[in-house]
Amino acid sequence: MQIEAAVSLQPYNTFALPAVARTLIRITGEADVRAVVNHPKFGTASKFILGGGSNIVLTRDVQPLVLKVELKGRRLVEEQPRAYIVEAGAGEPWPEFVAWTLAQGWPGLENLALIPGTVGAAPVQNIGAYGVELQDRFESLDAVDLMTGRTVTLTAAMCRFGYRNSVFKGALAGKSVIVRVRFRLPRPWRSVLGYVELERRVAQTGIAAPSAQQVFDWVCAIRRAKLPDPARVANVGSFFKNPVVSQHQCNDIIGRDPEIVHYPLPDGTVKLAAGWLIAACGWKGKSIGRASVYDKHALVLVNQGGASGAEVVTLARAIQESVYGRFGIRLEPEPVVL
Ligand code: EPU
Repeated sequence: MQIEAAVSLQPYNTFALPAVARTLIRITGEADVRAVVNHPKFGTASKFILGGGSNIVLTRDVQPLVLKVELKGRRLVEEQPRAYIVEAGAGEPWPEFVAWTLAQGWPGLENLALIPGTVGAAPVQNIGAYGVELQDRFESLDAVDLMTGRTVTLTAAMCRFGYRNSVFKGALAGKSVIVRVRFRLPRPWRSVLGYVELERRVAQTGIAAPSAQQVFDWVCAIRRAKLPDPARVANVGSFFKNPVVSQHQCNDIIGRDPEIVHYPLPDGTVKLAAGWLIAACGWKGKSIGRASVYDKHALVLVNQGGASGAEVVTLARAIQESVYGRFGIRLEPEPVVL
């Protein structure tokens, strides 16, 4: 077990915010987790689990012990008549994992292409894009309990997946380390093309039955056109969740703003496009200090270079206030704010 002190977290968060971890331990195998659990000092210390750092906003130095998950490995666990079961170590980069499964001939994750972060972080916030959520392709995961050091297997029901949510953001936050995730990739493969931008690609190209590779390429092109590449412009993807309101509340807003982008949900509630609400309040391209609202997508905040966590939080609060003032809706941050 390698223990490091006073580690800069700037290279380890995609928002490139400055913060220092008092103590950081790299987790490259389950044995490292157990060594932490059995350690006289670290065993009982409060802990923060860091994956690819693509869903955190660091506003201060991190006092809890940082466990940086770097477990590698990926393999086909089982070829079943109706599915491929594929497993990856929690520290594997998600975009590479998706591309690898496709290259192996095990499609099913193509709608989730290019989402920054690691395999282990994917279930934490139940990543989702273009009509597919992680929970739709999830089989099970292994996590090491930070109290007992025991490895436990969690099924989808035990993970309590919700919209950008799971038990790892709630009851199990900081209490267990995900070490491996298994995916169920259905056979035969079927494309998921219900998302409006994918429907548009089908119409434009005339390709009604695209291959998984074609869907992958479309998703990559859509993302590249409207979302910033974290390798070049520091960001954490969507900064707020899309709010869900009652039909009554939605009708009220439509009465005043007929063009509001909204999606009726099966349970009778309505999901509103937070990006539209923010853009409607005039925030696109606006900045506070070095933190800005991305000019091509108002739901994404970016670090122009040199932003502090405080500037990001100040910008986020100002956006929340103006959206609340105009629409009476409280936007909830999507990443974990530390
Ligand atoms: N819109 C605007 N102005 C904007 C931005 C968006 O009017 O500045 C409207 C447009 O009408 C657009 C609609 O909002 O069609 C929805 O935008 P988009 O398709 O980009 O989706 P989103 O709701 O903003 C969600 C996820 C994304 C995911 C996309 C595609 C959340 C919080 N975000 O964004 O996930 O990639 O759908 O499925 O649910 C992430 O979680 O970090 C993330 C990027």
